[in-house]
Amino acid sequence: MPDSGFRSIEHDPGRLPPEINTSVAHPARRYDYWLGGKDNFPADREAGEAVAAVFPSVRIGVLENRRFMCRAVRFLARELGIRQFLDIGTGIPTSPNVHEVVQAVDPASRVVYVDNDPIVLVHARALLTSSPEGATAYIDADLREPEKILNHPDLLRTLDLSQPTGLLLVAILHFIMDADDPYGVVGRLVGAMPSGSHLVVSHVTADPMPPEVFARIDAANAAAGIPFRFRTREEFARFLDGLEPVPPGIQSIATWRAEDEPPPRPSVADTATYGAVAGIP
Ligand SMILES: C[S@@+](CC[C@H](N)C(=O)[O-])C[C@H]1O[C@@H](n2cnc3c(N)ncnc32)[C@H](O)[C@@H]1O
Repeated sequence: MPDSGFRSIEHDPGRLPPEINTSVAHPARRYDYWLGGKDNFPADREAGEAVAAVFPSVRIGVLENRRFMCRAVRFLARELGIRQFLDIGTGIPTSPNVHEVVQAVDPASRVVYVDNDPIVLVHARALLTSSPEGATAYIDADLREPEKILNHPDLLRTLDLSQPTGLLLVAILHFIMDADDPYGVVGRLVGAMPSGSHLVVSHVTADPMPPEVFARIDAANAAAGIPFRFRTREEFARFLDGLEPVPPGIQSIATWRAEDEPPPRPSVADTATYGAVAGIP
């Protein structure tokens, strides 16, 4: 269950900064709604329900996405000894957050969170609850401006980019339109990571969907004003070009190293989301 440590922001308008527009749906708040959180508004819920009406397993998909992310970062921390993480497209804090997972492995782990939604900024305090031995930081920035992220003083203060880093782009790239050069953006971030770093990525796909379901979700996203780009397996694989996928490679998020997850695992069609972890040479 999401737990940002606060009561519903909807009932606490005094905490709402003016840049938060509650009259239109936002990806972070719609995701929070699907996850069962309390930091969403009628427009987000309406947009969420419009998708759920045509794709009822959307809630399974988002829960499995969080599970995938937790398994992937635990794997990087435990098996590969990675101790610092850059999580772009963090979302509204949802326990366990990345720092909680990796600091359970080593309390000295360091995490930088990045998101461009003002609602996430409002809740950033819940992300800054590092163990005393480690550190966390929150940067209000846009994935489409990777240099701003990479050169941000809070990132440079928190991470040592000469050391292997876990780069997390989890359920964010489908919000990046082709016109914004998603492959170039990922390439610039990956290029700034030292050898031994790893990319963790997940991405929604229409591959297992009947065309009419895809078309209706597409229409629901457009009606909500949320730009969304489904990508095929081949398009997803392009994000891993030049990298070294960790076995088992590209999978449904529900099955990537999911041996310890409770069976039965949701089907590929239930989640419609690819996941992978890949080494940066
Ligand atoms: C679906 S949520 C995923 C949250 C988290 N990564 C997870 O997988 O549970 C996507 C997040 O990406 C953020 N986001 C979307 N486009 C972004 C951009 N261009 N720059 C930074 N953050 C962005 C949204 O605000 C939202 O919080």
